Amino acid sequence: MQKMVIQGGVALRGEVAVSGSKNASLPCLMASILTDEPVILRNVPRLRDIRTTLELLERLGVESRWIGPHEIELHAATMRSHEAPYELVKTMRASFFVLGPLIARLGRARVSTPGGCAIGARPVNLHISGIRALGARVQLRHGYVEAHAERLVGARLWLDNPSVGATENIMMAAVRARGATVIENAAREPEIQDLARMLNAMGARVSGAGTHVIHIEGVERLHGVEHCVIPDRIEAGSFMIAAAITGGDVTVSNAPAGHLDAVTTKLREAGIVVEPAGEGLRVHRNGPLRPVELRTLPYPGFPTDLQAQMTALLTQAEGTSVITETIFENRFMHALELVRMGADIVMKGPTAIVRGPARLSGAPVMATDLRASMGLILAGLVAENTTELDRIYHLDRGYESLDEKLRKLGARIERSGGGAAAA
Ligand code: UD1
Repeated sequence: MQKMVIQGGVALRGEVAVSGSKNASLPCLMASILTDEPVILRNVPRLRDIRTTLELLERLGVESRWIGPHEIELHAATMRSHEAPYELVKTMRASFFVLGPLIARLGRARVSTPGGCAIGARPVNLHISGIRALGARVQLRHGYVEAHAERLVGARLWLDNPSVGATENIMMAAVRARGATVIENAAREPEIQDLARMLNAMGARVSGAGTHVIHIEGVERLHGVEHCVIPDRIEAGSFMIAAAITGGDVTVSNAPAGHLDAVTTKLREAGIVVEPAGEGLRVHRNGPLRPVELRTLPYPGFPTDLQAQMTALLTQAEGTSVITETIFENRFMHALELVRMGADIVMKGPTAIVRGPARLSGAPVMATDLRASMGLILAGLVAENTTELDRIYHLDRGYESLDEKLRKLGARIERSGGGAAAA
């Protein structure tokens, strides 16, 4: 099993380019099911989750090939299967997002339910009630969601909470439904807007993506498309925090500044300088790090996917920070590992009280999920001596060439041990 070995103490300097967004790429890849014409996606990161999605699509009958370092061509000329098996859905929950496109294209879908997850229960009830509202007959049998519909029919529906995945799933189902669909209390994440852009370029009629109310006028068929995926705001935010925690000076090029307002605001509150630099952001620090209070919220609030990284940063602030997680109930596993490295963190329900500045010392630590892993890497960058992060397959799911990119900024980080690296 591979590990990441980090020698802390280097202030990161230089420029790093952000890759395409993982969370935008996944639904865009799945949207290729909606047409029998070729689809070309650009700016797709080479990640384990992308490979898993391509494997799933291939089983369903979608042919794909890389036509450039980050360009992929997909063709769902004829579908072979309507089933997303448990062995794939359990390794990547987002596999569940094929439910909508499958039922839109084939009138039926059999998709394994994802089950539990390290960061919380993560149910899929909103996905299912959305597909039902569009007229599908849905049964849960043997751990699979089985859905049927001759043709979906547009409907007005309201989400209990603005789930990103449910919004995407329902959008992909509704684009080929008969009549109009309105999704109220929809998620507003930039990844939703990117998917809508792609669907509209395929001939769909989606409006309001990026607001709480999305309107979809169903169409008979969708055609092929070339679409460029947006840059990864979570990767960009992670590098911004890496610059901040090490007291370095990093230009994060290709960073989607407009998608990072909440992150920029909190970093500035913490005493970090964030300024526009060409097509990106320059991040550096002049004085001490100040404590902040923050709550994770749906977009445009502070993203839960940067909470672990921010927790690591605030262990270094001069004073007490308060971080509340409101999206996932169990997303503080990294806090226990940070405490093992010397952090002073007390948990009170969904809130972490972080007292700094803590002198972190390197330790063997274990990753529990993708973003927690990044939080521990950041802690390792400022810890004394050596930090060894185990289970780095989590990182390879979502950060493209992370160690290479950090090394270019001066970090002392290496992979050790056997096993294959990411895609
Ligand atoms: C997506 C992102 C993930 C991010 C999350 C929240 C992808 C591939 N993943 O995940 O990185 O952390 O958004 O920004 O884009 N919920 C329900 N019922 C449902 C669906 C969700 O109760 O049917 C709840 C979840 O338990 C959670 C909240 O809604 O508490 C938000 O989850 P959701 O937005 O659906 O996250 P994902 O789409 O899975």
